[in-house]
Amino acid sequence: MSYINKKNNKSNDIKSQKIEVKCINLNEFGQGVFKLGGSIKCVNNLLPGESAVIAINGDKCKVHNLINKSKKRVDVKCGAYNKCGSCHLLHMNYNEQIKFKEEYVNNCFKQYSIKAKVEEIERASVLEGYRNKMTVAYKYSDGKIVYGFYEEDTHRIVTNDYCLVHTKEQNEIVKEIGKIMNELHLSCYDEDKRKGLMRYVQIRFSRYTKEILVTLVIGSNVFPSRSEFVKRLRARCPYITTIIQNVNSRKTSIILGDEEQILYGKGYIEDEILGVRFNISSKTFFQINPYQVELLYKKVDEYLHLQGDEVLLDAYCGVGTIGLTLANKAKYVYGVENNKQSVINARNNANNNKIKNINFVCADATEYIIEMAKMKAKFDCLIMDPPRTGSTDKFLYSVNELAPKRIVYVSCEAKTLARDLKILLEKYSIEKVGIVDMFIGTYHVETVVCLEARSPKAPQKSK
Ligand SMILES: C[S@@+](CC[C@H](N)C(=O)[O-])C[C@H]1O[C@@H](n2cnc3c(N)ncnc32)[C@H](O)[C@@H]1O
Repeated sequence: MSYINKKNNKSNDIKSQKIEVKCINLNEFGQGVFKLGGSIKCVNNLLPGESAVIAINGDKCKVHNLINKSKKRVDVKCGAYNKCGSCHLLHMNYNEQIKFKEEYVNNCFKQYSIKAKVEEIERASVLEGYRNKMTVAYKYSDGKIVYGFYEEDTHRIVTNDYCLVHTKEQNEIVKEIGKIMNELHLSCYDEDKRKGLMRYVQIRFSRYTKEILVTLVIGSNVFPSRSEFVKRLRARCPYITTIIQNVNSRKTSIILGDEEQILYGKGYIEDEILGVRFNISSKTFFQINPYQVELLYKKVDEYLHLQGDEVLLDAYCGVGTIGLTLANKAKYVYGVENNKQSVINARNNANNNKIKNINFVCADATEYIIEMAKMKAKFDCLIMDPPRTGSTDKFLYSVNELAPKRIVYVSCEAKTLARDLKILLEKYSIEKVGIVDMFIGTYHVETVVCLEARSPKAPQKSK
């Protein structure tokens, strides 16, 4: 398989028609690629080798019916598949999903002429109910309350009886909230009129303590029948351990507002990664797959192979999870993160776990590292885990200047990872590349790269 770098359902030249096509490939989003006339088109839910009748309507392509099924196809249990936009690969058997992700990473590297041997992916053992955070929107449709995820690239809600990647409890809570809203005649928030109550509900669970946090995101701070609502929700979902009210009346696609109030319980949940405990509140960034995150962090640990005397920089550290799980193997750890709340959480996490050899700085990672380079600060190892957009050239050139002996780059977007590696490869060689399947059923993939500083005269190693 190789990828066609295009996500496309658009076909402005063809008006509403049904046409038989054969899938020749997959694109990087897991869509089936087919030829139509002289052009290449892509459609969800079609595998290489399969023929299908495709309905082409305006700028949209959709599989109308499959003519032959690939052996790699599995039945999809999700009722909203391909509508909600969250999962993309559920129609592939798990082996194929894995192959797809490995090839994606290899192709990203190839695009930047990076030669590296990618290790076999860390497969997931929990394939369903793995996501520890569920966010659902509530709206009116034909006068009825509907709830679900947004259709891809829209604010249209796709209803779904049961979301497979979330737990039974998360699914139950979402439904019970809908029922209680009806019973108490509570309204949904209307984004256009900027009126109404329930906007989103976010449900987070802890794998380790089994605690569940429900955040009710409402459009105004007047919440009629609030205590009755909380009473009914707790009675029907007794496993909920804490409930928060969050007010978000802004015209924005950001889910959470600034104002919060605890309605029940302690206001946060606790989870553990590799023996370190973390407090998670509504706004805390926390890796969404609590089963795979330990594999990911173990890989970071393995790649760093710390001896105990190293000073480590954990850049883009979030709530400090990577640095905190490694602090007992290093001399000292610095964490840098630009989100204020995450830094507060990271410091609390250090205190709660009595980890003393760590310090978190709230700053833009690029500005921080430029400053460190100016000061000729000494870091033995660097961990960097930037967002999907990757890091910045200035950050990367400053890393080359600071010259830590080892870098472990954790990335949730192999394309920006490969782009960034090009700069680091001026001074570093790739030692290892690992992949962890954190986002089962989706095209997303987590990649970990270990880089070693080359001695000034050594040529670049190619593997
Ligand atoms: C992919 S997360 C990684 C978090 C953490 N390493 C973990 O495993 O949970 C990326 C983090 O980078 C932070 N971030 C984004 N842009 C940043 C910047 N310019 N400077 C510092 N931190 C940034 C985000 O707030 C987020 O916490």
